[in-house]
Amino acid sequence: MAKRDLIDITDLTVEEINEMLNLADDIVLNPDKYHEKCKYKKLASLFFEPSTRTRLSFETAMLDLGGSVIGFSDANSTSVSKGETVSDTIRVIEQYADIIAMRHPKEGAALVGANACDIPVINAGDGGHLHPTQTLADLFTIRRNKGRLENITIGLCGDLKFGRTVHSLIAALVRYTGIHFVLISPDELKLPGYMKAELDEVGAQWEETASLEHALPKLDVLYMTRVQKERFFNEEDYLRLKDTYILDLEKLAAAKDDMIIMHPLPRVNEIAIEVDNDPRAKYFEQVGNGKTVRMALLLMLLGVEGGLYA
Ligand code: CP
Repeated sequence: MAKRDLIDITDLTVEEINEMLNLADDIVLNPDKYHEKCKYKKLASLFFEPSTRTRLSFETAMLDLGGSVIGFSDANSTSVSKGETVSDTIRVIEQYADIIAMRHPKEGAALVGANACDIPVINAGDGGHLHPTQTLADLFTIRRNKGRLENITIGLCGDLKFGRTVHSLIAALVRYTGIHFVLISPDELKLPGYMKAELDEVGAQWEETASLEHALPKLDVLYMTRVQKERFFNEEDYLRLKDTYILDLEKLAAAKDDMIIMHPLPRVNEIAIEVDNDPRAKYFEQVGNGKTVRMALLLMLLGVEGGLYA
């Protein structure tokens, strides 16, 4: 049977995503059932770019399934520093591991890796492009808190130009019915035109505003993002834009009582610390959900549970 990779969230059908989220719900309810499901399986965790949550949640996910982990968190300690290509690195790693999670600063690197080997490759973030497993964590968090993935007004706020988590989340949610996107950003960090054209092509409801205050009262979900310093060519522009939106308790007073606040993290200044104790703040819960849903993903891509078939 041909292997499956996860490079773009649209590599999964809506039915497969729903099945994965159901499996993640069962892992929360019955963790003991899964403790040995990946015994003797090895995850290669290849991080060519810094990460805290994604790397550690993938590694914990495999350990909680009874498997083991190899890999690196700094490409400078590998033969990449001697000039080895991504393709050759992946072809080497597939001799040792059963599945690969890979983050790389270059857009498309995970796809290159997937095409070079015969084991499943998971894109753990490629440059400013895509971050499909963050999207699985985001969908799981929305569904657990709102009870649905349909008929939601979601505000996406901050760096919509370079924010790969936003790009993947929009691509996923647009396939559910009744989603209304409110795109909140300064002019310089608007969602790329090609993505707005894609939203129009499928008849999605969306609006754009620069005002968080204006958008807040109508939202069911507020998804805050950091301005992506590492994607800017010019430090001056970053410094000018980085604090455009700061969510604090005063602003939050205008939001619905059951709105949830999400953030893929790391946070810089976008959410004041005082918001952390508000019951609507779900960003640390979102981190924990990321581990659970990555357990479900590993099980399904390895063919241990559920049906992900090519
Ligand atoms: N959300 C996220 O991708 O965080 P890390 O960069 O720490 O993995």
